[in-house]
Amino acid sequence: MYEIIQVVHSYLAYVVLALLFFAVANAITGWIGNKMFTMEKDLRLSLFTLILAHIQLLVGLILYFVSPSGLQAIQALGMGGLNSASRLLAVEHPFINIIAIVLITIGWSRHKKFVEGDKKFKSIAIFYGLGLVLILSRIPWGQWFN
Ligand code: HEM
Repeated sequence: MYEIIQVVHSYLAYVVLALLFFAVANAITGWIGNKMFTMEKDLRLSLFTLILAHIQLLVGLILYFVSPSGLQAIQALGMGGLNSASRLLAVEHPFINIIAIVLITIGWSRHKKFVEGDKKFKSIAIFYGLGLVLILSRIPWGQWFN
């Protein structure tokens, strides 16, 4: 069970990061270029990114309870007993990523309130962009590529 969830979380991370990158780049170019916000491309890309980010959140939450590097590490060592690598996995990565996905969700909800394309793009660009930066700041890079 743990291994399957860990592998799913690990591969889904590529998809989520790639989608977030495209969604942010698309929103910035749409915002700067004052383009029309289309249902076919812009809405679909932002919505698909939101959905995949939420699926990753759910998989991450399950992983947190089944992984030896999640809650079990805190239970075994206590908060004070965690070194920087184990703190990244058990505390910083989950906490910061939950905040990142909340920001992405806010960006999605805000964009729906606007009619003007530039305001829709701006909301996606800023909130998805902040989410992406937060996620990138707390990826366990060393473990991921090993
Ligand atoms: C978009 C959001 C997220 C991304 C892109 C992401 C990405 C990753 C990556 C790349 C790893 C390393 C995987 C590996 O070693 O192969 C990882 C590990 C982990 N993630 Fe996430 N994650 C996200 C959200 C979350 C959330 C919300 C939680 C928990 C609430 C979480 C809990 C964990 C845990 C516990 C591990 C360590 C698993 C282990 O090695 O046993 N992640 N994550």
